[in-house]
Amino acid sequence: MKAAQIREYGEDVVEINTDVGVPDISEGKVIVKVHAAGVNPFDWKIAQGYVSKGKALTAPMTIGGDFTGIVVDVGEGVDCYKKGDVVYGSAIVLSGGSGAFAEYLTTREDLISHKPKNANNIEAAALPLAGVSALDVITSKINLKKGQKILIHGGSGGIGSMAIQISKHIGAYVATTARKDNTDYLKTLGADEIIDYRNEKFEDKLHDYDAVFDTVGSDTYKRSFKVLKKGGMIVSMLEQPDTELMGKYQVNAVGQSTRINSDDLKKLAELYDLGVITVNIDRTFPLDRAGEALKYQREGSVKGKVVIKID
Ligand SMILES: NC(=O)c1ccc[n+]([C@@H]2O[C@H](COP(=O)([O-])OP(=O)(O)OC[C@H]3O[C@@H](n4cnc5c(N)ncnc54)[C@H](OP(=O)(O)O)[C@@H]3O)[C@@H](O)[C@H]2O)c1
Repeated sequence: MKAAQIREYGEDVVEINTDVGVPDISEGKVIVKVHAAGVNPFDWKIAQGYVSKGKALTAPMTIGGDFTGIVVDVGEGVDCYKKGDVVYGSAIVLSGGSGAFAEYLTTREDLISHKPKNANNIEAAALPLAGVSALDVITSKINLKKGQKILIHGGSGGIGSMAIQISKHIGAYVATTARKDNTDYLKTLGADEIIDYRNEKFEDKLHDYDAVFDTVGSDTYKRSFKVLKKGGMIVSMLEQPDTELMGKYQVNAVGQSTRINSDDLKKLAELYDLGVITVNIDRTFPLDRAGEALKYQREGSVKGKVVIKID
């Protein structure tokens, strides 16, 4: 079968190999024929070695996590899925999967769920990591309530765009930061206030917010503390809590580490099927151009999600 793999960490190291064996079935896992695979910033960060923490790469390694596809075999102890089920979820190597940018993959039963019925293959593949991150942060870490005010950074990105829609569904007031040319897109998602981060300072415009959801990090993270009211909450996808700023502004802070799981994928699918969440597909690539897809995700100012079409 064909798979997008790396043998070393680096910027343009993705190779398309056609002689890769279909993964073997094992206990607690499924084998899936892949229809489409979603691209996340995490994928190019893994390829560049940012996530390896100095550990050597077991080469060749198939890249990619998010996918949708059809179950073709189930291992011993798999209770919730059978051959022919259409599923979505993660097959990232770091969590014991075989990698999603491939014609077939294997992954753990607890990292998948049934695909949302109203999503086509491209849309379903775009959802897992960004959708579960947005859902977990908004509903569990922040526990956002109707009438509260939230600032969501990076509103046009994968996580930000889903976080806006979930927050509006809850009944919150949503401010978001993005490039000016994405204003119309963000209005369609329901954002109440859109701040052009390249020409305006969000901390001069927003005050007394209940929560900030940071998908950008660094200086944006630090400046965000000024926007919060006392007792407010900031959750960052990239930064660990800054205890000095927490004390100075008397707010709470959490560093998010998303763990994809069947329960959250199921909730995400329900929200998708209800029409609460939509996903904008910025661009698709064939598997043969997986390296280009990673580069586009890294450099392309993506509006929504990038997906690799496989079958
Ligand atoms: N900790 C975890 O468990 C975890 C899990 C998933 C993802 N992440 C990380 O979370 C981050 C976001 O993920 P994602 O999938 O949403 O990425 P994404 O789709 O690339 O979205 C990032 C968005 O941020 C915008 N942006 C860039 N600079 C900005 C600024 N200064 N102010 C406001 N917006 C800005 C980008 O817009 P323009 O390019 O148009 O400017 C883009 O729309 C990534 O770094 C990812 O690696 C962490």
